[in-house]
Amino acid sequence: MKSILRSIFRNTVFRISILNFVILCLALQSMVLSGCQRSQSTDSSETESFIIGFSQIGAESAWRLRNTQSVQDAAAEAGIQLIYFNAEQKQENQIRAIRSFIAYQVDVIAFVPIVSDGWMHVLEEAQYAGIPVLICDREINVSNENLYAGFIGTNSEQEGRNAAGYLIQKFIEYNDQETFFNRSIRIVELSGTEGSSVAINRALGFREVLAEQNARAEYPKFEIIYSESGDFLRSKGYELMSLILDSNINDIDVVYSHNDSMTLGAIEAMKERGIRPGTDIVIVSIDAEQAAIEALRRGEINFVVECNPNQGPDIIRLASMLAQGESIPRITYMHSRVFSEWDDFSYILPRGY
Ligand code: AHR
Repeated sequence: MKSILRSIFRNTVFRISILNFVILCLALQSMVLSGCQRSQSTDSSETESFIIGFSQIGAESAWRLRNTQSVQDAAAEAGIQLIYFNAEQKQENQIRAIRSFIAYQVDVIAFVPIVSDGWMHVLEEAQYAGIPVLICDREINVSNENLYAGFIGTNSEQEGRNAAGYLIQKFIEYNDQETFFNRSIRIVELSGTEGSSVAINRALGFREVLAEQNARAEYPKFEIIYSESGDFLRSKGYELMSLILDSNINDIDVVYSHNDSMTLGAIEAMKERGIRPGTDIVIVSIDAEQAAIEALRRGEINFVVECNPNQGPDIIRLASMLAQGESIPRITYMHSRVFSEWDDFSYILPRGY
């Protein structure tokens, strides 16, 4: 019944009430003002299917651009209408977008939450309107888990664990252990956006594995001597690293950076000061953008954990299931891999982002 009403709402403008018409106009105006785009299949027989409202964080990295493109391509390929909204790094813009999607009565709301807290009220509104919600890429914290249908993204805690696992291997197997007998290995961490699930989990998984190593009888031991958010931005990675290198923080053995954009900025700052990234300081990064893989080939990065941005096909598949009233798994993790300085680089295919 509800879907019939929605279809009347969408297709028979003359029959909708003045109140609904005003709401629709406001919603569309808000989306246009905020940089919303609506991608539509060229096949008119398919556009009758359903509509997904998709709120993306912004365009802070090459990774994010690829992630957005992947969703738009998958929607176009499936002949599904996607209302795309770029929140320009602001949670309030995302909340506004979700409210617009509710006013427009989309079939499914999919969004990438910039931070994990603060979603309860708007999700209650979506639930009240009977619109299922799919959480993409980053996780949320809500006391009532029924407020969303499921999560699709990467396992960011595992990404942190992989990063730490590499360091242990590197310093146990490939280094002269005597160097680190008298002091611990000193790590600088450039973390992602404060309050985002990926930054929280990448820090958590990393610390978990290092704590296990530190609890063992044997050396080496690891110490995080400095940790600061670079907001996933290259410019901030550069700024932070410059500040650190010009301060009295000495003997940095490792930089663990939560994404490639910040890593590339940090590498630039090191090179400007005559420091050889990958040699003088071990560099561990996350994402596996093409530029980071090139740096790995040059020996300027030692280890990269892939964070797979090609989530579009799965997002559209799960959203389609929800639109048809089917249930979906609570968690769907993307397959991801790692790239290390010990790999045969000839097997690495172009990354596409
Ligand atoms: O949420 C995924 C992270 O967000 C990626 O690692 C990063 O590049 C992006 O900004």
